[in-house]
Amino acid sequence: MSQCCINPSILSADFVNLEAELQRISNADAVHVDVMDNHFVPNLTLGLPVVQRIQAVSPVPLDAHLMISDADRWAPAYADAGVASVTFHAEAAMAPVKLARELRARGSKAGMALRPATPVEPYLDMLSELDMLLIMTVEPGFGGQSFLDITLPKIRRARAAIEGSGIGVAIQVDGGITEETIVRAAEAGANVFVAGSAVYGHADPAEAIDRLRAAGQAAAATKA
Ligand code: DX5
Ligand code: ZN
Repeated sequence: MSQCCINPSILSADFVNLEAELQRISNADAVHVDVMDNHFVPNLTLGLPVVQRIQAVSPVPLDAHLMISDADRWAPAYADAGVASVTFHAEAAMAPVKLARELRARGSKAGMALRPATPVEPYLDMLSELDMLLIMTVEPGFGGQSFLDITLPKIRRARAAIEGSGIGVAIQVDGGITEETIVRAAEAGANVFVAGSAVYGHADPAEAIDRLRAAGQAAAATKA
């Protein structure tokens, strides 16, 4: 199993002090930036100009999670801005293969996200076009929700398909990740973990990251 990555979500950070909030997670593998358009999800966060400023000051690479409609049109600009990893939603892309190729051609890693009720099976043949598959473990839109255990079988099926094909796609989970739920997600086969409230709701976000990483690595080691 590949490395266990902890990507804190700044959705739970203090948006007025983002630069300082980014410095508090400098031991993270990447920073997860949730872009919401109040259309694909019922919430509004930030867009490309703010992402560009975060990119300029962040001590770690950016992992942009685009919860936006018409991803085919808007996602490539995030790759052009130099964002290390750009994830679009399968439900919001007309041509996911074309879009993944465009992101890679522009120098980003290509990620594709699935809402909790979206099956992975229709997408198994295109996994080689992706660097990361994001399996949402809550309905996207808000931080602080509870982990949905119904997503565990999908994580297992995706991991089995990836192992079977020999391609190196990461499986990210996002939503309700805590020191407890990370164990179940890692055992099911996830290896990149987004955590918002578990990191920024902790008095010491860097310590929360270390603890999550240790829990995820221990669970993955048990599985191996
Ligand atoms: C939800 C976002 C998540 C969110 C996770 O739609 O995609 O990244 O910030 O927050 P927690 O970890 O609090 O569930
Ligand atoms: Zn997210």
